[in-house]
Order: sequence, then C-alpha cells, then structure tokens
Amino acid sequence: MREILPPLLDTLIVLLMVAAGLWSWRRIHYRSFWLLAGYPLTALSVRATWRKVALGCGLTKKRQRWWFTLTPGAVASTGLVKVRRRFQRVAVDTKPWMWLPLPTRYGWRVTIRTLEGQIPEDYAEAAERLAHSWRVHAVRVSSPRPGRVVLAATMRDPLVRVDQVPASSELLKVTVGRLETGKPWVIDFRTVPHWINAGATQSGKSNLANALIVGLAPQPVALVGFDLKGGVEFTPYAPRLSALATCRAESVRLLDDLVALMVDRMGLCRQAGARNIWQLPPAIRPVPIVALVDELAELYLMADKSEKDEIAKTSTALLRVAQLGRAFGIYLFCCGQRIGSDLGPGVTALRAQCSGRICHRVNDPETATMTLGDLDPAALISARSIAAETPGVAIVASQDGQWYRARSFYVAEHAAEHAARMYADLTPSWAELTEGTHHAEINDADLDELLNA
Ligand SMILES: Nc1ncnc2c1ncn2[C@@H]1O[C@H](COP(=O)(O)OP(=O)(O)O)[C@@H](O)[C@H]1O
Ligand SMILES: [Mg+2]
Repeated sequence: MREILPPLLDTLIVLLMVAAGLWSWRRIHYRSFWLLAGYPLTALSVRATWRKVALGCGLTKKRQRWWFTLTPGAVASTGLVKVRRRFQRVAVDTKPWMWLPLPTRYGWRVTIRTLEGQIPEDYAEAAERLAHSWRVHAVRVSSPRPGRVVLAATMRDPLVRVDQVPASSELLKVTVGRLETGKPWVIDFRTVPHWINAGATQSGKSNLANALIVGLAPQPVALVGFDLKGGVEFTPYAPRLSALATCRAESVRLLDDLVALMVDRMGLCRQAGARNIWQLPPAIRPVPIVALVDELAELYLMADKSEKDEIAKTSTALLRVAQLGRAFGIYLFCCGQRIGSDLGPGVTALRAQCSGRICHRVNDPETATMTLGDLDPAALISARSIAAETPGVAIVASQDGQWYRARSFYVAEHAAEHAARMYADLTPSWAELTEGTHHAEINDADLDELLNA
C-alpha cells in the first residue's frame, strides 16, 4: 500500500495539472484550443456516434443486407442484427454517409449524403434533436446541391458578445452586427432596398436604427426620419437628418416631398434614357435617401375621425415610395412593434414591398409570422425563442431565401448622436433637395409603366 500511494498521488497531481492547463488554455485562447484540442476530439466522437445519433433522430433507413456469421444465433452480429442462420438476408438500419467534420470559427460543419427519399427538410426537422445529441448550441441545415446536406454546429452562442461597428466601405452598405455563423451582418440598401424591423419594446429595434445611423452618417446620403412619438427617438440625430417628421401633418408633408422627388427623378431618368438613378452619370445622379421610420403603427393609427384622410394619404404615399423607391434611390427602413393587417390594408401592401425582414424578440407569434412571412418554420421557432436578456438578437431574412440568427452591435444613443454631430456638415439640405420638384400626382399610366419596368 505504501508503495502504491505515492505514484498514485503523482498521477493524480499530473492529471489535475493537465486538466487545469487545458482549462486555462480554453479560457485564454479559445480559438487555438478549439482547433488543436477541442475539434479533433469532437470530430472523432461525432463520427463514432453517428449511427446512434442518426438512429435516434430518425435519419436512418431500413435496408436489406446479406449477413454472414460463423456461429448462427449466438452473436448479435456486429451488434446490429441477430443472425440465426449462417447466411441470411436481414434488415439493417443504414445511416446517411457522413464526411469528415471540418472546423469552423464557432464549431464544425459536416457534409452528409442523403439517403433515398430524404430531403433537407428532414434534417432541418431533426436539427434540434441533433443539437441535443451532440450537446451543441445549435445545428443549422443547408443544402449546397441535391443529395447533400451540410450540418453546421455551433458550440456556444456566438452572439453573446458582439463588439465594435466597423467602418462601412461601400455606399449604402452598413455592417450592423454579426451573424451566428460569425460572418458580418450587412444591410445593403442597393441589393435590398426596403426593410421591416419588427420587435417588442426593449428588443433592440432602436439600437439597430442607431447602428444604421452611425454607418450611414459618413456616407454621401440624405437621411430622413419619421418619429411620430413626438420625436423622442430621432430628435438627437437631427444634425445629420435632412428632414424629420414628428407629427401627423409633418409626416404627410414629408411623404409628399418624397413622392414629388421620385416623380422628379423619374423625369430625369427618362430624359437620360436610364432605368434608374444608378445608370445616370455620377455628375447628375441625385443623392440617395434613406427614410427611417421609428414606429410604423403610429403612421397608421387614428387618434380621431378627422385624421382619416391624412392616414389614407400617408398610406398611399408610403406605398408609392416602397414601390418605386428602389429605382430612384429612396429606401425605407421601417421599425415597428406591430406590423399586422389590423393597421389597415396599406400595411399589408407595404409589407409585401419590403423584402428585407428583421425580427427581434416578439411577444406574439403572429408578429413573427407576419415579419418573416412564409420562411422555414424553424425560423419562426428561433424568433420566438429569443431571450429578453439578449436584446439586439434577431432573425434576419435576406434576399437569398436563407435566414440567419444575428445580433446587432451595441450602439448607444450617445454614440449615434456623436456620429450625427460629427458628420453634420454632410447633411444635404432638404430645401435644396426638393427645390424645383413639382408636387404632381403620379398618373396611372406612369405607375403602370414603372411597376412593369
Ligand atoms: N445589440 C445589442 N447589444 C447589447 N445591448 C443591446 C443591443 N441592442 C439593444 N440593447 C439594449 O437593449 C435596450 C433596448 O433596446 P432598444 O433598441 O431601445 O429597444 P426597442 O427600440 O426595441 O425598444 C437598450 O437599452 C440597449 O441597451
Ligand atoms: Mg425604440
């Protein structure tokens, strides 16, 4: 006993030291720890347990196989099937073929060859089961080509901490946060002109608007704001805003101006034989305008009957901007707690024009459904499971039909205010912008031509 104890103690100490070393390595430099120690072990265990996991998640298929055994009945051959005769045809559960898992920044991904009759949705449905089986934060499914699915596992939520806003390099393109995949979350108005940004109060809608203001302020664009809650949100950014509407009358006027500007730009494009302002020579190209709406519902809600006409006008004008803005460089970013059809038919039509969708934490499933439309049901589940403790986390639907979980950079009001003041001299004056525009209604023939262009 005496002789065994010291070596045992030594081994214990060495083991403890190794464990402590690994633990601190993981704490100090997670990336290298993951690549050199975490990932290889994970890859091995994922491969080793794939049959069990696939079986448990319902991703296997029964197949007939010939089976041979030397001692019939005695062994459950390879632990899979019991073979009673020497040579027998048996049904076995076959797993989908799995390639080697590859490390990613926040986990790993692996390509799977689907079995006959399987579609990527089968894997998407099993994604949560897979995540629990592999003890990872989430598994996302994509399909690069028929017959293949890629399962991307994230080890832990990469959106817990999201750091600084990088400077934007391109016109109308702003990196507002980070996607769950570790890639930047980019809002690019030139590819997706109009956006709906939905969420409950305190979910991070204004923070995202702040990030946009910080990103757009240094760019040669005009920013206009609609803030019908008395201007509490956008007034601090007034130095960088070319126009700000804080009440019903102002918003009607501002929308009128925007429509007039569009008509004007339409004429300009027609003269130059261009389809949109981007085909015009830079010298005569009008400045792009981004319109930020703080609470969309406020534009549609009626305080009393007398506002009915104004609301109808607002609704039509906003819809016109959404329909034609893309070609003439006027972009919408509409934030709102509620974007449902209860606000009137105008909202539904507007929603249909906004191809960019962002859904922060919401209180009711309807808002998530309305924001994300007919996306994958998993996106809706993911949207509804955003925790209140992580404001700024949102589900983002982009033009490629994919959806992502993302988190905006934290941009406090004072940071946006600072940017607005710093770049105040880049603010185009609204009077100059709208100079010479005639407030003509768009006639139906023009509208038809434009919508079908
Ligand atoms: N991306 C984020 N990271 C960290 N905190 C955030 C983030 N977005 C929002 N917050 C915090 O959440 C709170 C609510 O955000 P806010 O944008 O005002 O929500 P909303 O406009 O939807 O009511 C803010 O006080 C802010 O500090
Ligand atoms: Mg807000």
